[in-house]
Amino acid sequence: MKQPLRKVVIPAAGLGTRFLPVTKAVPKEMLPIVDTPTIQLIVEEAVKAGAAQVVLVTGRGKSSIEDHFDRNFELEEALSRKNKMELLEQTRRIGEMVGLVSVRQKEPLGLGHAVLAAKRAVGDDWFGVMLGDDLIDSEEPAIGQIARVSMQTGKAAVALMPVADDQTHLYGVAAGKPQADGNLLVDRIVEKPSRGTAPSNLAVIGRYVLPPDIFPMLEKMKPGAGGEIQLTDALAVLAQQGRLVGVRFEGERHDAGDRLGYLQANVAYALKRPELRDGLLAYLRTAVQR
Ligand code: G1P
Repeated sequence: MKQPLRKVVIPAAGLGTRFLPVTKAVPKEMLPIVDTPTIQLIVEEAVKAGAAQVVLVTGRGKSSIEDHFDRNFELEEALSRKNKMELLEQTRRIGEMVGLVSVRQKEPLGLGHAVLAAKRAVGDDWFGVMLGDDLIDSEEPAIGQIARVSMQTGKAAVALMPVADDQTHLYGVAAGKPQADGNLLVDRIVEKPSRGTAPSNLAVIGRYVLPPDIFPMLEKMKPGAGGEIQLTDALAVLAQQGRLVGVRFEGERHDAGDRLGYLQANVAYALKRPELRDGLLAYLRTAVQR
């Protein structure tokens, strides 16, 4: 990437079946971490990294996400009348945070297919992809760390994290040549390798910075793992061309797409809130004794 990151694509078309029944009528992306929808945490990360435009790839029943990033005059009026200025400020800020466009993924054909739906909205620019299931709590926003490496190297970049050997089948997994700066020049990347066949234990975590020529690659892509059009398979083409770097990012990652990971994220983020920390710790201490 030559210019700083401006656009990010956030795929949000999934049905959220792992979180039924709540996801019957509430998009998974609106599930809160303490009091903030996970999608807001993702958008805040993008904004902190300098992105000005978010392309949301949605499906049916996701309009509350768009409402969330819109202004809500009725609510603002009411908060102002009650003199709740801090809440008013917070509410306004969400509506003004970023330019958001949404596009529809018309069929659930996989992550690569979802990213392809953003083609027209992205145009000829390099862009970020952020997966809402992966929350990364870090000093420097994770997508900013990936973008920085992409700028330094001129290559596409993806976040990597070591996972236990018995977890590699859940992820895209990358291998390649370690570079002096600690990153990896990726030469192989496989989506959800079957047990015992992973090329390494370095898992792809949902932050990517990609060139616009990924779109024609995705257009040609045949269904891969799970019968879906996989983003990882297009990354494999970049890797073969020597155009993909794996970045060992700094930060704590939570898998908010998993029920246990989601609960852990709630506890971790709540413990960082001064107004909640002591009460929650006291509760957890008594709860574990039961
Ligand atoms: C997706 C990607 C996978 C990546 C993972 C990270 O898989 O396809 O390569 O490792 O996100 O969370 P999913 O978790 O959607 O099955």
